[in-house]
Amino acid sequence: MADRPRLNHRKILVTSALPYANGSIHLGHLVEYIQTDIWVRFQKLRGNSCHYVCADDAHGTPIMLRAQNEGITPEQLIERIGVEHRADFAEFLIGFDNYHSTHSDENRELSALIYTRLRDAGHINTRTITQAYDPVKEMFLPDRFIKGECPRCGTADQYGDSCESCGATYSPTDLKNAVSAISGAKPIEKESLHYFFKLADFEPMLRKWTGAGHLQAEVSNKLGEWFTDGLREWDISRDAPYFGFEIPDAPGKFFYVWLDAPIGYMASFKNLCDRTDINFDDYWGKDSTAELYHFIGKDIIYFHALFWPAMLAGAKFRTPTAINAHGFLTVNGQKMSKSRGTFIKARTYLDNLNPEYLRYYFAAKLSASIDDLDLNLDDFQSRVNADLVGKVVNIASRCAGFISKRFHGNLSKSCTESDLYDTFVRSGEEIAGLYEKREFGQAMREIMALADKANQYIDEKKPWALAKQEGQEQAVQDSCSVGLNLFRVLMTYLKPVLPRMAEQVERFLGIDIMTWDNLAQPLCGHTINPYEPLMMRIDPKAVAAMQDASKENLAPSSTESAAAPAPGALTANPIAAEISIDDFAKIDLRIARIVKAEHVEGADKLLHLTLDIGGETRSVFAGIKSAYKPEDLQGRMTVMVANLAPRKMKFGMSEGMVLAAGPGGKDLFILNPDDGAQPGMRVK
Ligand code: 2FM
Ligand code: ZN
Repeated sequence: MADRPRLNHRKILVTSALPYANGSIHLGHLVEYIQTDIWVRFQKLRGNSCHYVCADDAHGTPIMLRAQNEGITPEQLIERIGVEHRADFAEFLIGFDNYHSTHSDENRELSALIYTRLRDAGHINTRTITQAYDPVKEMFLPDRFIKGECPRCGTADQYGDSCESCGATYSPTDLKNAVSAISGAKPIEKESLHYFFKLADFEPMLRKWTGAGHLQAEVSNKLGEWFTDGLREWDISRDAPYFGFEIPDAPGKFFYVWLDAPIGYMASFKNLCDRTDINFDDYWGKDSTAELYHFIGKDIIYFHALFWPAMLAGAKFRTPTAINAHGFLTVNGQKMSKSRGTFIKARTYLDNLNPEYLRYYFAAKLSASIDDLDLNLDDFQSRVNADLVGKVVNIASRCAGFISKRFHGNLSKSCTESDLYDTFVRSGEEIAGLYEKREFGQAMREIMALADKANQYIDEKKPWALAKQEGQEQAVQDSCSVGLNLFRVLMTYLKPVLPRMAEQVERFLGIDIMTWDNLAQPLCGHTINPYEPLMMRIDPKAVAAMQDASKENLAPSSTESAAAPAPGALTANPIAAEISIDDFAKIDLRIARIVKAEHVEGADKLLHLTLDIGGETRSVFAGIKSAYKPEDLQGRMTVMVANLAPRKMKFGMSEGMVLAAGPGGKDLFILNPDDGAQPGMRVK
C-alpha cells in the first residue's frame, strides 16, 4: 500500500502481541491481528507514516519440551511454526511491515542491553528461592507442569495453581500427591539463585504513567488495585535447561521468556530499520516524538502496563504512547470449544471461507473497550450477506451493467447529485474519527447507513425502468454514474477492513489507489472496466464444513490430530494420570490383522486401514503415513483399541485406534504381537 506522506504526517509504530511459536493461529488470536491491521491500514490511508511489526514469541519451557517430544531442536520447531504463522497472517491480509522472531540476534543484543542498563542502575536483585524440581528430567518445574490432587476438593489431575473442578487457587506445593507432568516423577524441592527486576523502584513513575491517558479507563482502574496490592519484584531468570537467551553475567541462567518477549517488538523493528532507511532511535530514543502503540489482549495487561514501561524507563528508552487492550473471543456465546467445533484454526477457516468476511464481521463487532466479543456463526452469515453483499456490492452490481453495455463503460461528464455526493464525502471525517478511536463497530454502522442511502437513491431513480423508456438515456447514465461514485466513496471507507476487495474495485473503476484525500472530486467522464462479481454470499455449507473440520482436528490417535494449544497452554505430552485396574479393564485391546492399507486422498498423515479382529472388520484412520507404506502393512498383525467410540473424521468414520509408539515422522512404530497371536484375541 503506497503511503501518501503529508507535510505534517504522524510517525507511528504499532505492534500486536507476539504469538507463541508452538501452536497454530486460531480465530481468538485473529481478533487482535485484524483489529491492529485495520487501524494500521487506516493510518496509512490517511497519509501517516505507520510501521506495523510483530514476531513469533519463540522462547520458554513449553516450546523446549514440545521440540523434545517431536524429536527435533527448538530451532527447527520455531522455524516450522514461523512459516505456518506467516502464511496464515498473509492470507488473512494482515499487512505486517516486518515479522521477526524473538530468537534473533537483534533481540539477543537488545535484551542484553536493557538488562545491563537495569542492572547498572541498581534495578536487579538476586536471591535464592526454593522451587519444585523434577529429579528424573533434571529440571525445575514451572507451576503448570506439576499435577496432583486439588487440596480443597480432592479432584485428581489438577495442574499447578488452580482446580478446574472447584475453582480453588493455590500454590503447586499445596497439591496432594503431586507429580511432574513431564516425567511422572515426584517433584523434590530445590534451591536456586534467581534474578529479579525491582518493579517497586518505578512505583512513582508508574503511578504517574498509568494515570496519564496511556491506558483505557477500565484498565487504569484495574491497575489501581495492583498498586494497592503492592508492586512485587519480578523473577526474570530461569535455570538451564531452558530455551532462551543466557543472562550475560550469569552462566546457566536464562532470561524468562516474558523478559525478552516485549523486547521482541523493538528487535523486529530494529530488523526492519536495518533493511530500510528508518531510524531506530527516532522511534525508541528517550526523546522520540513518534507514537508507539501496543495492541494486546486483556490477559497480558500486567506485562505491558507495568513491567514494560518500567523496563523501558529504567533502560533509558521511551515509553509507549498507549496500550490498546481488547477482550476475548467467544463463539456462539461460549468459550471456543473443540468438541463443539468452535475452536477454529486460521487455516481451517481459510480452507472454507473468504478472510474478508471475518475481517468485516470483527470490525462490525469491535470497539475500543476490553469487552469480550462474540462470533455468532448465524449472525456472521446474515450480517455479512446483508451488509457487504446485499448493501455495498449491490450498488455496484445494479449500476455497472448499464454503464458497460449502453455507454461503453463511460461515466457521465458531470455529477448530477453533487449534494448527495458531498454528504458522503463529508461523512468521511466522522468515520475517520471513529477508526482513529478504534470504534470500528460504529464506523461500520455509519458506512452501512450511507450504503442504505445510496441504495435508496437507486431505488428512486430506477435505472432499469428508465432504460426501457424512450429518451431517458442520459438519466440512466447519470443515475448509474452517481451510484458508482457513491460506491467508490463507500469502498474507500471500507478499505482498511476489506483491502483485497478495495483493490478489485480500484481495477474495476480503473482508478489510482483510493484514499480519503482522493474523494473530493467525483469520477466524471471517466471510463470503467467491465464488472466482475466482487463478493459472494456466504455459503452455509462452508460454515458447517469449517465446524466439522474443527471437530476432526480432535482425532487423538494420530499425528493428523492438530488440536492447537491455546496460547500458554500445556504443550508437553504430560504423562497420563494414574488409572485404576477397573479403568484399565474398560479398554478393549485386541489383536488385529491389517487386511487392507490404503492412501487417503487429500490426507497428509493418514492411512486407511481395514482391520480384521476375528470375524469382525473395522475401518480405522491411522496417522502413520509418515512411517509406513500401505503395501508394507498389508497382512501384518497389530494391536488396536476396539471399544473406542466411532469418530467422524473428514475422510470417514474411524472405528477404533491402532496403537503406535515413537516421537513421530519416520520414527513411529505400530505394535507387533509375537507369532501365535490371532485376530480377535484380547490383550490382557
Ligand atoms: O500471551 C502470549 O501469547 C504472549 N506470547 C504474548 C507476548 S506479547 C509481547 F510481550 F511479546
Ligand atoms: Zn478442587
